[in-house]
Amino acid sequence: MSRERIGAPRGAYCKQPGTVVLQKISRLDRAARTCYKIVEARPRSRPGQTTCGGRMLSVKAAKGQASTHNTQPSPPLGLPFKNGHCASQPPDSVPSGIGLSYMGTKHRLASLLAPLLGSLPDGPLLDLFSGMCAVGSAVDGKRPVWTNDREFFPFLVARVMLNAAAPPPPPCQAEQLLQANFTRNHAALLSRFRKYILAEERYLLTPTLSDAETANRVRYTGTDPALDRERVRLAKHPRTFPYRLATITYPGSYFGVRQCIEIDSIRYAIDAAYAARHIGQEERLWLVVALGRVLVRVNNSTGHFAQYLKPNEHNLKRLVAKRRRSVWNEFLTTLKSVSPVGTQQWRLTNRSFHSDALVLLSRLALQSQWPRTIYADPPYSRAQYSRYYHVLNVIAAYRYPAVFGNGRYPNDRFQTPFAHAAAVERVLDTLIQRTSYLGSALLLSYPDNGLLHERGGSIYALLRRHYPSVEVLDTHSLHHSTLGASRGRATVTVRERLYLALP
Ligand SMILES: C[S@@+](CC[C@H](N)C(=O)[O-])C[C@H]1O[C@@H](n2cnc3c(N)ncnc32)[C@H](O)[C@@H]1O
Repeated sequence: MSRERIGAPRGAYCKQPGTVVLQKISRLDRAARTCYKIVEARPRSRPGQTTCGGRMLSVKAAKGQASTHNTQPSPPLGLPFKNGHCASQPPDSVPSGIGLSYMGTKHRLASLLAPLLGSLPDGPLLDLFSGMCAVGSAVDGKRPVWTNDREFFPFLVARVMLNAAAPPPPPCQAEQLLQANFTRNHAALLSRFRKYILAEERYLLTPTLSDAETANRVRYTGTDPALDRERVRLAKHPRTFPYRLATITYPGSYFGVRQCIEIDSIRYAIDAAYAARHIGQEERLWLVVALGRVLVRVNNSTGHFAQYLKPNEHNLKRLVAKRRRSVWNEFLTTLKSVSPVGTQQWRLTNRSFHSDALVLLSRLALQSQWPRTIYADPPYSRAQYSRYYHVLNVIAAYRYPAVFGNGRYPNDRFQTPFAHAAAVERVLDTLIQRTSYLGSALLLSYPDNGLLHERGGSIYALLRRHYPSVEVLDTHSLHHSTLGASRGRATVTVRERLYLALP
């Protein structure tokens, strides 16, 4: 396999300070296996600017992350709204995407992978475990991108970011469309849950630990049989007014009572606007995704939904700061900073799936068009992604599940076999066998200390079982989320490996 044939990098792809570059380090086997290394880049360019493949890049990105956002203006956010002050944003003020890095998002790696993926067999690229769409966003416009994620919220993110024909409604248009119904639902819940709101206000105004503990000891469906009976009824008719899913499920946990009421009222207002045909399906999805982004931000936890923080003397200040945030205000602000990726023309060539990866690969084998290049970034540890996405999934789908445990997980959450020690080798083998059956090139990300290796398995060996040509691309010092490590650091340095298998 020659370097040229696979479009491997000539030297470094991206010379961006503080990020990583891909370099060939050795040719282990001329015929089949070449090894590349991803190393830290040395700063070369002026502060605040860098070059990548000849393009100027903005380094204004999420903390510590490389950005591939071109400095060319982003598409405008939609038609100017009637009253003038709601005209579309200045076009270059909004980076494309939803700006959400969550649980294993590979922004840094994605900007490096994009040129490599661009050079692999053309036609649609399938990002089989797309998460927050780092790869699809980096590929932006270069080829059709199909995404897939078994969790509902990431599926919605891909659906709007990479598939939407239209951008989200501008904030003041959304405010006008939603305000009346928001207020209606809000008022109905306020009168019912007034006593909890008063207790909450007391410690939010004058924070004391005992008041915070009392106010956050709120009954919810998992602890109150009457509320649970109500939940069962509502599960059959989830569109019943007033919307109250968050308020009877999550009060005093990830969110305060007032915040739960706001969440439910925003969801009610979105559905009411859709039912009245004031907004279409895509705008509805944009609003739901924007709400999800706000939930991640106001959530009282270490950054995900595996578990929330109970008040104590060390976190009281932080808890109060989180609880004081208004979901409604943040929601309107967030609408300014979410937008689709790439051109509408390109997005219309993309597709998004919400399926188990193995099931999807089987289905694609029966279709007339399938992806000739597949990127796979499967779960690599025992951590179940549904622990991190469950609240976002539940609020987005707006159903009333029974919840259990400290994390208030829905009892029917998806359990991925890629995170099961006993199953990991079998499912990775099946995945590789199915991509090979499709005749697709496969680029697979898996860290050296991943679950498969812990079990004594080898990705390289699995790939060689089904592909004639396998190349290993090594990486250096990439920081991975430990998926909520409640017992330790939030990130750990891992050696990420990239495996390129060609049919
Ligand atoms: C390592 S993350 C991918 C991160 C992604 N590359 C990014 O940059 O955001 C793995 C993703 O696979 C999804 N997932 C887990 N098991 C799955 C399965 N069996 N089928 C499809 N998706 C799955 C998870 O929901 C998660 O979003």
